[in-house]
Amino acid sequence: MKKIVLETYEDVCRAAADIFSEQLRQKPDSVLGLATGSTPIGLYAELVRRYEAGDVDFSKARSFNLDEYYPISKSNPQSYFYFMRKHLFDKVNLRHFCLPDGEAADAQAECKRYDTEIAAAGGIDLMLLGIGLNGHIGFNEPASSYPVGTHLAVLSESTISANSRFFALGEAQPVTALTMGIGGILRSKKIVFVISGKSKADITKKLFDDAIHMDVPGSFVLLHPDVTVLLDREASGG
Ligand code: GLP
Repeated sequence: MKKIVLETYEDVCRAAADIFSEQLRQKPDSVLGLATGSTPIGLYAELVRRYEAGDVDFSKARSFNLDEYYPISKSNPQSYFYFMRKHLFDKVNLRHFCLPDGEAADAQAECKRYDTEIAAAGGIDLMLLGIGLNGHIGFNEPASSYPVGTHLAVLSESTISANSRFFALGEAQPVTALTMGIGGILRSKKIVFVISGKSKADITKKLFDDAIHMDVPGSFVLLHPDVTVLLDREASGG
């Protein structure tokens, strides 16, 4: 694992954008794994800036997002489909993007379809991850066992409360989601973790203390042979 502590959030976003740009330069038809949450927003803004400057090209790439609330309509501004269009898909020339379908009638069938589609694309070349305050990745919440593939997850109280900031008072907030499993994430060829801010310092410390913690799903990523962790000074606790 390569752990790189940078001074600011902006530095983290630029360094992550360097990794994505380089990936696309070396393999224009890369399969990208993408994430939501506030941390990747600066990375997406930086990629849009580079695309507009002609420095990065997504035309041959494909992407698969980690997760989506379930059930949720694509037109709901809180859906990850809406989020990704707003921050990236509507602004660059990435035409083949997929997320688990929050509108699917049958969640189990949708999870199976999603994994089949990722496998048919040749698997994920570069996977972006953020970390939840409780150590979750995607929507793999702390548990005593972890499904390998994409599955329907029940969100923890901690996640519901952390993500409630995005929902208006009285607005229905989903309590379940479709998420890639830990196995699906670990099957990616490369992983880049982006972590920012003081609020993440405690979980970051636990995440990188050289142990697999059953109650910190993100710590399973330490088993992967090609992980780069980009974190800012605040998240590093320094
Ligand atoms: C959500 C997403 C995760 C993300 C997490 C942290 O719950 N499902 O993929 O890592 O939020 O987000 P933030 O970057 O806003 O702290």
